[in-house]
Parts: sequence; C-alpha cells; structure tokens
Amino acid sequence: MTGASRRPGEGRTPSASRKASSEADVRGYHEPVLADVVLEFLAPGADGLFLDGTVGGGGHTRRLLETCPSCRVVAVDRDPTALETARRELEEFAPRVRFVHCRFDEAVGDPGVRAEGLEGALLDLGVSSHQLDEDARGFAFRRGVPLDMRMDPDSGVSAARFLEEASESRLAEVFRHLGEEPRSRKLAREIEKRRVTRPLRTSDDLVAALAVTLGRAPSAREKARIFQAIRIAVNGELDALERALPALRDVLKDGGVLVVIAYHSLEDRMVKNAFREWSRACVCPPELPVCVCRGRPLGETLTRHPVRPDEEEIARNPRARSARLRAWRRAA
Ligand SMILES: C[S@@+](CC[C@H](N)C(=O)[O-])C[C@H]1O[C@@H](n2cnc3c(N)ncnc32)[C@H](O)[C@@H]1O
Repeated sequence: MTGASRRPGEGRTPSASRKASSEADVRGYHEPVLADVVLEFLAPGADGLFLDGTVGGGGHTRRLLETCPSCRVVAVDRDPTALETARRELEEFAPRVRFVHCRFDEAVGDPGVRAEGLEGALLDLGVSSHQLDEDARGFAFRRGVPLDMRMDPDSGVSAARFLEEASESRLAEVFRHLGEEPRSRKLAREIEKRRVTRPLRTSDDLVAALAVTLGRAPSAREKARIFQAIRIAVNGELDALERALPALRDVLKDGGVLVVIAYHSLEDRMVKNAFREWSRACVCPPELPVCVCRGRPLGETLTRHPVRPDEEEIARNPRARSARLRAWRRAA
C-alpha cells in the first residue's frame, strides 16, 4: 500500500486488513514502501532530528527509530486518524517522537525544527492503505462509497462538494491535467448535466457519469485515474508539495538528506526538477554572459534515476508498484 499510487478500490478489503499482532496491525494499516532504501539514505546521519512529513501508520518512522537508537523524529500527518494510529504504534519510542497534526508544508515552520535543523526528512506522498480501505473516508471506487476523499476530514471541501461546485472548465482541467483523461471535457459536461437534477454523492454516481462519457463500463484503471485526480485536487496535493520542497531544503542541516516517494508522474516530475535545479552550480538564464546567481550547487542528487520497488516488493504489496523514490543531500 502506498501513496497515491494506489488505485482506489483495489487491494485488501477492510476486514482482510485486520491482523492479530501489533506489527501486523501496522502492516494492515499501511506497509511502508521501499523501507530499506529510505533507511539507506536517511540512516547514515544516525543522530539528530528527522521529519517524517507523512507518518501514516508509522512504518517508516518505526524503522528509523529502531535503526538509529539516538535519533528523534517529528512525525506529521494531516489525517488525525493516521496520527492517532502512529502515536499508538510508536508508543514504545515516546520520548523520541513528537506528533504534529498539520500538513507537511506547514510542519517546516515548527519552532523545534527551525531551531535545530533536520538531519533528514521523508515525504511518502499520497494516501495510505487504511485511507483507501475505509469506505467512510470516501477515497475508493468500491460500490456505494460516499465521495469524500479529504485526508483531514475536518478541513476543506469533500469530493462530492467539489463535484457540485467546481465550474465545468475546472473539472475538465482536473481530469485532463491530473487524470490524463482524453475525454476530460466530455466527462466534465456529463457531470455538469447530471448535477443540475441530482448531485453526485457516491462512487456509483461518478462511475455512472464516466461510463456514459466512455460509452461503456470503465476499466479499473480508468476509474482509478479519475478518482485519483479528484483526490489530488480536493487535497491541494501538488500545491503542498511545491511549497514543501524548498522549505524542507532550507531546514536541512548541512549534509542533511531529503527523501521523497511519489506515486504520480506530476509529483515525481516536480521532485526531479527541484533536485536537478538545486544541484546545479549556475541557474542564470543562458543568455547572460557572466554568472550572477549563487554560482555553486546547493547540494547533490543522490538518485540519478528514481528508485523503484523490485518485483518481490510489488508482489507482496501491489500498491507499491507506481512508487518512485528520489533523494537529495544538502551540501556539507
Ligand atoms: C503513503 S501514506 C504514508 C505511510 C507511511 N510512510 C507509513 O510507513 O505508514 C501517506 C500519508 O501522508 C499523509 N499526507 C498526505 N499528504 C500530506 C500532507 N500534505 N501533509 C501531511 N500529511 C499528508 C496522508 O494522510 C497519509 O497518512
């Protein structure tokens, strides 16, 4: 189970995700993706303060705390249920973890983080398996699921309200840009037509609009793309990432490492471009005869190509399949 990757409606059912032992409970909540690779990039610093901006079920943070006996972690999630789960699951490490309920782009302003600086930071983007598997959270395209999709159910507008209030052109843009849907305008028009008489409330309403647009039953992949696009829009996910990247870079200590796992091509491109730009010595426009910018790289990209889960991990955890991990180190 991974972040965005995750096709709503796929994978385990809520009952199948309930396991007996505490370790299995966390796995049932969310299995951390590329956990060994994350540790390889973050753990060499060993000591000091780390930020897990997407703590979810606490899987990555647990591995970090186990591996580095004296490190401390600021564990952040915008989903209060996720944060409560992580707090419970990481109880044994209590003195070394501080839980903060906020978005990761806001966490960078935390006074403790600003004062001390970070040895490392992790963003494991998207949604957790638990969020996808809980019908009440409204992320999945399983039948009868209410359209909600907010990671923080107490803030912002639900997917149902978004589909009710967004202009037709905004809907089309979301479906095209975030969902790469070739019939984005047609789908937006179909939603506009339907909502005049009856607002879209459940996954079935949205799937029905998509089916009329396509002239046939949509495949799981087609449904997943549209549901994911709406989720990204409802939660402002790209904006949060865009704000967080430079802010995290600036609170890293010298030699500190930023690791990002993305599950959507737009997120991954944003991370790739940011890391590439920060790793260049000169960022002057090419027409300038002499360099007038910083004239030195801010750090180095540690992953020439994104790291992807191997076949064994994907077989164990199919929701990991679209994961792309990139890492960057601030100059010492
Ligand atoms: C893929 S899961 C992380 C799983 C986690 N690494 C683990 O091992 O259990 C993503 C989590 O990030 C949270 N999240 C997504 N975007 C966020 C943001 N902008 N700020 C804070 N939390 C966010 C989601 O609520 C979800 O719990």
